[in-house]
Amino acid sequence: MTIIVTGGAGFIGSNFIFYMLKANPDCRIVCLDKLTYAGNLSTLASVMKKPNFRFVKADICDREAVDRLFAEEKPDVVVNFAAESHVDRSIEDPGIFLETNILGTQVLMDACRKYNVKRFHQVSTDEVYGDLPLDRPDLFFTETTPIHTSSPYSASKASADLLVMAYHRTYGLPVTISRCSNNYGPYQFPEKLIPLMIANALNDKPLPVYGEGLNVRDWLYVEDHCKAIDLILRGGKIGEVYNIGGHNEMRNIDIVKLICKELGKPETLITHVTDRKGHDMRYAIDPTKIHAELGWLPETKFADGIVKTIRWYLANRPWWEEIVSGEYQNYYRKMYETR
Ligand code: NAD
Ligand code: TYD
Repeated sequence: MTIIVTGGAGFIGSNFIFYMLKANPDCRIVCLDKLTYAGNLSTLASVMKKPNFRFVKADICDREAVDRLFAEEKPDVVVNFAAESHVDRSIEDPGIFLETNILGTQVLMDACRKYNVKRFHQVSTDEVYGDLPLDRPDLFFTETTPIHTSSPYSASKASADLLVMAYHRTYGLPVTISRCSNNYGPYQFPEKLIPLMIANALNDKPLPVYGEGLNVRDWLYVEDHCKAIDLILRGGKIGEVYNIGGHNEMRNIDIVKLICKELGKPETLITHVTDRKGHDMRYAIDPTKIHAELGWLPETKFADGIVKTIRWYLANRPWWEEIVSGEYQNYYRKMYETR
């Protein structure tokens, strides 16, 4: 079985490749990635020489390149992780989000139709459901919660989801969609909350918490996410959406304090900065469907996963130090200097 994994040089895609090559040693994985600022070939170093792995640098929006790859590989399955994924960047400049996240998904699905791919799996996000109020802890996102987006990022992901369902209904494309909560773990780009706070704390730099830091996210350890996608590929129903997450809600401020504690750094590093525009208050997933149909539940408790993650960043300093010493500095200045 050949699986094309798009965006496999990024955070979740790379973890998925590692997971699949271990859990399903008979499968062949072809990673298609444009290597944007978020893609890092060094992340894939450990699998690069495997005979059942191939890396191809290409843009999912490039129809010719995508067609050529599908003609060569005749994939059975396509899992689409490739995306512009950072909300703050989408607020600064939405255009590339619409191109990659919507049009790129269309290009991939057109190729899937042409080459009769048996499954197109779209990796989506719980952010398509908008947010929940803090004073209603009884509310959770289910697969039937209406789509109601806040940021250009989430609007682009929701648009792609609608297009995926349209390709299923109109052309009979065999699709599945997963909508997961916030992932954390090894190889996450240090623009996102957890790795940014770990890297800053280790460098004794201020820890920029947006607003009061009371926003709640439902944290999903990346390996649990990869397992869930594998289960959906094996047993998920065509044309269905599966939410992935649950039971790990945390406030931003508590996470940042926990990171300070684990690293032995003072909480005085915490700096409250101007809030994100349109900032979603709370995300919380009800995983009943994926649990009932596929037997999946998150296995990693946040208290354990965060310690594993901090240890990984401590043990792999060259990986993130190289990132934060390059172009990232310009990004950081632009986003945080006047915040
Ligand atoms: P990431 O930003 O770490 O990685 C994205 C990868 O996609 C990079 O390797 C990048 O080079 C590649 N890419 C970007 N544009 C491309 C293009 N046009 N063509 C080919 N490759 C391209 O993202 P991530 O955090 O690993 O997220 C992966 C997927 O999961 C995304 O679709 C994202 O929307 C979704 N998601 C992420 C989270 C999270 O917490 N990180 C939560 C919910 C959903
Ligand atoms: P992020 O990791 O960007 O994920 P998302 O926006 O998809 O949830 O942010 C997680 C939360 O952390 C979000 O509420 C915004 C907040 N945050 C900060 O307070 N400071 C930061 O520097 C960043 C990057 C995020």
